[in-house]
Amino acid sequence: MGKVLMKIFIDSADLSEIKQAYEWGIADGITTNPSLMKKAVNKCKLDGEDINLKGYIKEILLISKDTPVSLEVTETTAQRMIEEGRKLYEMFKEFGNVNIKIPINPSFEENNLTHFDGIKAIKKLSEENIPINCTLIFTPEQALLAAKAGAAFVSPFAGRVDDNLRKRSGMNFNKTDYFPMEGISKNDNGIVSGIDLVKQCVQILRQYNLKTEVLAASLRNTRQVREAALIRADIATLPFDVIRNMLKHSQTFEGMKKFTADVVEEYKNLL
Ligand code: E4P
Repeated sequence: MGKVLMKIFIDSADLSEIKQAYEWGIADGITTNPSLMKKAVNKCKLDGEDINLKGYIKEILLISKDTPVSLEVTETTAQRMIEEGRKLYEMFKEFGNVNIKIPINPSFEENNLTHFDGIKAIKKLSEENIPINCTLIFTPEQALLAAKAGAAFVSPFAGRVDDNLRKRSGMNFNKTDYFPMEGISKNDNGIVSGIDLVKQCVQILRQYNLKTEVLAASLRNTRQVREAALIRADIATLPFDVIRNMLKHSQTFEGMKKFTADVVEEYKNLL
């Protein structure tokens, strides 16, 4: 049984969010992806800032100190992902905490011939001691192959599994809505919810005592964070708002109002 408490990564490329999460003392790492980078770059442009992406990423790495930071490749063939992964790693190696995110399968459709290119890239880069976070995992068997290829982290995308199941059930939903871990009527080849996917990945990898850590990704609400911890995910990567919401409760606010109203002079004079 794992004795290390689930780690919390911040799923963001926004410098102010990252700074805040580290100042709060709760961040154990950072995950980024091309969409999060685009959002951060566009925000800087809107603020009239001239962004130098290399310098920007260095700032992220400085804030993160020695905690893991994932940077994702953008290429879609094994050879190009290997080259890009090496370059990214070399560029920021001095910080000692970069890992490279590789998609489990970079194909866009069934007929492509590149389904195993992610695995090839993971294997090659892992052999070169470049830590890999294997991303876009939607089945436990994808996680199994990524772990077998040497990935340091596997990232099952819980929220997107829930989106898919809700769409297939014809439900109207917001992405941040809670979806029960035990599922509803539909399943995706035996996966009943996003947290169920994370759970099955954890169960399989733990059985074999692998070093690969299960990083629960695409989490959109605090109850999913609780469930990720209940099923013993190694890591949960969270958007800034989810981290912020983890400490909020109406009864805590009420309790604070009452306690602060009840402080008697004698108590104050104690100090
Ligand atoms: C993390 O590694 C992923 O990039 C991220 O959690 C995806 O989240 P989303 O499905 O909310 O975009």
